[in-house]
Amino acid sequence: MDQPIIRLTGVCKSYGDNEVVKDLNLEIMPGEFLTILGPSGCGKTTTLRMIAGFEEVTKGQVFLAGVDVADKKPYERDVNTVFQNYALFPHMNVFKNVAFGLVEQRIPKAEIKERVQAALKLVRLEGMDNRMPSQMSGGQKQRVAIARALVLKPKVLLLDEPLGALDLKLRKQMQHELKHLQQELGITFVYVTHDQEEALTMSDRIAVMNAGVMEQLGAPEQIYNHPATRFVADFIGESNIMEAYVDSITESGIKCVMEFGDFTIRRGDYADEEMLYICVRPENLRFTAEPVAGFNLFGKIKEHIFMGSICKTIVKLPNDQEVFRTAPPSDGLLPMDSVVHLSWRPTECSILRTKEEQIYNVIESSVEMEGFDARQIL
Ligand SMILES: Nc1ncnc2c1ncn2[C@@H]1O[C@H](COP(=O)(O)OP(=O)(O)OP(=O)(O)O)[C@@H](O)[C@H]1O
Ligand SMILES: [Mg+2]
Repeated sequence: MDQPIIRLTGVCKSYGDNEVVKDLNLEIMPGEFLTILGPSGCGKTTTLRMIAGFEEVTKGQVFLAGVDVADKKPYERDVNTVFQNYALFPHMNVFKNVAFGLVEQRIPKAEIKERVQAALKLVRLEGMDNRMPSQMSGGQKQRVAIARALVLKPKVLLLDEPLGALDLKLRKQMQHELKHLQQELGITFVYVTHDQEEALTMSDRIAVMNAGVMEQLGAPEQIYNHPATRFVADFIGESNIMEAYVDSITESGIKCVMEFGDFTIRRGDYADEEMLYICVRPENLRFTAEPVAGFNLFGKIKEHIFMGSICKTIVKLPNDQEVFRTAPPSDGLLPMDSVVHLSWRPTECSILRTKEEQIYNVIESSVEMEGFDARQIL
């Protein structure tokens, strides 16, 4: 098997007392499209800058093709960066901007011309050679920045929110084109975005970051279907997140108690009184008029929202928490205010462990109510 082209071991970055990247361990394989995904300020740009050599690591090591690059300057590393703010040379036209790195490398003029033309064609800017950056739209400038990086044929391309400035339509189109380019050229992409949809559609693997910590690393399907933490479940796609604790473990299953209701799961190595988050995607939440075996959860239909290809139905639980389901509108809509039973297939929910004492307290106090039946208070 190939060795990783990029390897980060125990990488930390601090600015003063502020640790903005915490113990990052990550291996990226040659030709891989890896996305670092996370909210603003979580440490994405800092991570890229440490790989590129613009930022020193505070602790840990960065390896490129097996070599520790601690003492290597950015230009000595076989990576190229497309920056968040494109950083074009304002006094140079498009051709000169794209040719810059090749001129530095003293490549013959004829070859430069050929390679620049090819790169401009890749990003659909043929014929724009003489334009100045000030005469271009944000999207066009961004594409010049991508061409300028591609023309050097780096083994690794680091891209920091490269499509951030584009309108939705061009963004989608460029997502497609960039992905094709990456596959065609076989370059390793480390791609930074805070847009989860972009990450899901483009990546081979996604590293989800939150406050300097990589919370999950996996293929898009894995991240979406099996989120490892509450943050990931919430940040990637939409989720119904319900709090529960393990009430009893018997032959017939593990009974999980929620604030208003309970359900039984068959398997799992959960401990008595363990606190859990139950994450169910809106497309997997089921509402039925009759109870489903193993579930004792009710709610009241509060709203139907027509969204074109799908309809979103909001159900209010007795504790005022709202959960929702999405389904094709043709499925037939349950009348407003009707009581529905909630359930899901065991394989279609993610159960996450948590140490939040608060959940236990909230649930415990509501369960103590004698003879409690959720339907009475609906
Ligand atoms: N030079 C610096 N000095 C001090 N703090 C910094 C410096 N650069 C970044 N930070 C801090 O480090 C944290 C991570 O910043 P970073 O730019 O990596 O975030 P990001 O994930 O790229 O966010 P965005 O999506 O907004 O670009 C932030 O809290 C930021 O304020
Ligand atoms: Mg950034």
